[in-house]
Amino acid sequence: MEDLRIAILGHRFMGRAHSNGWSQVTKFFDPPYRPVLQVACGRDAEDLQLFADRWGWAEIETDWRKVIERDDIDVIDISLPTHLHAEPAIAAAEAGKHIFCEKPGCRNSEEAAAMLEAAEKAGVVHYLNHNYRRCPAVALAKKMIDEGEIGEIYHWRGAYQQSWLANPDLPIDWKLKKDTAAAGPLWDLGSHAVDLAHYLVGDFAHLTCDGKQFIKERPLASDPSQTGQVEVECAANLIGEFKNGALATIEMTRYATGRRNRHTFEIYGSKGAITWDMEDMNRIKFYSESDPDHLKGFRDILVTERCHEYANAWWPPGHIIGYEHGFVHAAADFLEAVKSGNGITPDLNDNVRIIRVLEAALRSMEGEGKVVL
Ligand SMILES: NC(=O)c1ccc[n+]([C@@H]2O[C@H](COP(=O)([O-])OP(=O)(O)OC[C@H]3O[C@@H](n4cnc5c(N)ncnc54)[C@H](O)[C@@H]3O)[C@@H](O)[C@H]2O)c1
Repeated sequence: MEDLRIAILGHRFMGRAHSNGWSQVTKFFDPPYRPVLQVACGRDAEDLQLFADRWGWAEIETDWRKVIERDDIDVIDISLPTHLHAEPAIAAAEAGKHIFCEKPGCRNSEEAAAMLEAAEKAGVVHYLNHNYRRCPAVALAKKMIDEGEIGEIYHWRGAYQQSWLANPDLPIDWKLKKDTAAAGPLWDLGSHAVDLAHYLVGDFAHLTCDGKQFIKERPLASDPSQTGQVEVECAANLIGEFKNGALATIEMTRYATGRRNRHTFEIYGSKGAITWDMEDMNRIKFYSESDPDHLKGFRDILVTERCHEYANAWWPPGHIIGYEHGFVHAAADFLEAVKSGNGITPDLNDNVRIIRVLEAALRSMEGEGKVVL
């Protein structure tokens, strides 16, 4: 097996999730390359060294530009805050390196277009990490929809609800500032929700979006006796219609007390319905209109059978998997894409589509009303 040398930019939440993905992939899959954890990059050298030691990264670097200049690196893994995706992605493409990039892909359409143009010009593999697509249950929902199990889709009811900002003592960080995050849950959680809507239903025709700020000021991390302005919405509700005629609602919030990471969808079609909830991620619920009347109702499918996508690489049926496995699946598919040259989705093309929807929702939220896409 050939080596593929990885450099990771960012070493906190996603830094850990990605490191686990790269480390596990050869243990459970048979990818064409062995990922070599070569360089970890972040700002705080002391923390970074601890991270590198724990996860097995060979070297550390505090300047991402120096990492991209190195000619012994094949893949740049961008696990940085959202405002730091476009520049490294473009630089990585120009240096001929493949790109594995966290979501939301960037802050606006200009950045999205420039990232895609650079990656296509360089001919590198580019991947946008909407990891929920790679849950076996979501992959099964996709297969069932494509095979017509629920017929014509009438409704998409998506929600991505978290609760961490209901705590008023949490300080301002990059996720609460426009320049670094572009928007609030609309961008952070909405990018995942819109990606799944694109994947399972299709493109939006038009939408409107409403947002709300519940807590407008928070302590500063540098001095908790002082407060700063929250610059982004605390919650957003989107309603719209897809080009295929299905109606959509998506709720995005970090103020849903008790909902820790509830990413859900309900899809209702002419022949049946499918629902999924990330907090119970190994299952889908499936309703079929063709069931006899005395058996009508949602059935519960535990998506851990050998025939289910990705499941065969793990444990016997019924031995469930978790959040981190989506990152291992993404690593496996990415390594295959580097070998085959056939690409991987979602990619920076999908990023352009997602950012277009999020921007439309932001414009609507800021007063434009209904926006046609
Ligand atoms: N796919 C998912 O499920 C998921 C979940 C959470 C976050 N994310 C996304 O991942 C990205 C990172 O989020 P996170 O929660 O890991 O952020 P984080 O705040 O936990 O970590 C950010 C990292 O970036 C580093 N960093 C910041 N500025 C830097 C600079 N100038 N040079 C080098 N390093 C720098 C920090 O040192 C830190 O290691 C975001 O785009 C976020 O939206 C994705």
